[in-house]
Amino acid sequence: MTAATDRSTGTVTDPTVLFDTWMSDFRALIAEDAGLTWPPVSGDLSEVPPVLMTLATVGPDGYPRTRNVMVSHTGAAGSPAAGRIYLHTDSRSDKARHIGADPKVSLTVLAPDRSRQVTVVGDAVRSDPDEEAEAFSGRVRYLQLLAWLNDSDLAQRPEDERHRTWAQFAAAHPDLSSTPPDTWAGYAVVPREYLFWTADSDGPSRRLHFTRPSGRLPDTVPDTVPGTVADNWIMEVLPG
Ligand SMILES: Cc1cc2nc3c(=O)[nH]c(=O)nc-3n(C[C@H](O)[C@H](O)[C@H](O)COP(=O)(O)O)c2cc1C
Repeated sequence: MTAATDRSTGTVTDPTVLFDTWMSDFRALIAEDAGLTWPPVSGDLSEVPPVLMTLATVGPDGYPRTRNVMVSHTGAAGSPAAGRIYLHTDSRSDKARHIGADPKVSLTVLAPDRSRQVTVVGDAVRSDPDEEAEAFSGRVRYLQLLAWLNDSDLAQRPEDERHRTWAQFAAAHPDLSSTPPDTWAGYAVVPREYLFWTADSDGPSRRLHFTRPSGRLPDTVPDTVPGTVADNWIMEVLPG
């Protein structure tokens, strides 16, 4: 039991810890589905396809827009980035434009076996260049090529031309790992609210709802606050 666990109930009281645990569980399920052993024999998690999240942003007309993106990684526990949920995209995309105008986002991750769902509400902030470069170098080659080539101009071209452009660019650039395009953009979602939904085949589903007392973001919580980050979250149990 970690410091972020209520000893009387065994309930995890730090949602950032619970989120990371769930992401790791979901990757294990994805690995099983993909027929990979878990943990992968090489210990290289990049062999396992990333977990997906449905990300909602606020459009210029005030209506939400959703799409699926990969959960690139989460901030390391104990670091200033702990709890942040990272995604990567094209800076010319609608989601990037939306976030630039209004950082409010929500995301939902569904377990591959549908037994769990977690929803996060928060603010998206642009990641730093080092994080963006590292994330790009860790992407599989197909996604590196995609980041370079997937623009609105190429999308308009006929299929044979798109394939030819792709093959020529790939042949001319055998290793792109250290050269992300200028349009490569990373965002970190800073959570202010979590909802963890868990199925129960012998009874009703249930949710754990975590909020901050006054809507404070992690960045504004002074390091000197006694106790753990978990102390700054309020948890309530809700019906599923
Ligand atoms: C399985 C899957 C994974 C995806 N992963 C990403 C991703 O990590 N980043 C991204 O920008 N788009 C990703 N996409 C494409 C997005 O869903 C979306 O079509 C694209 O980013 C443009 O969205 P926007 O115009 O709303 O910004 C993915 C799509 C699918 C189906």
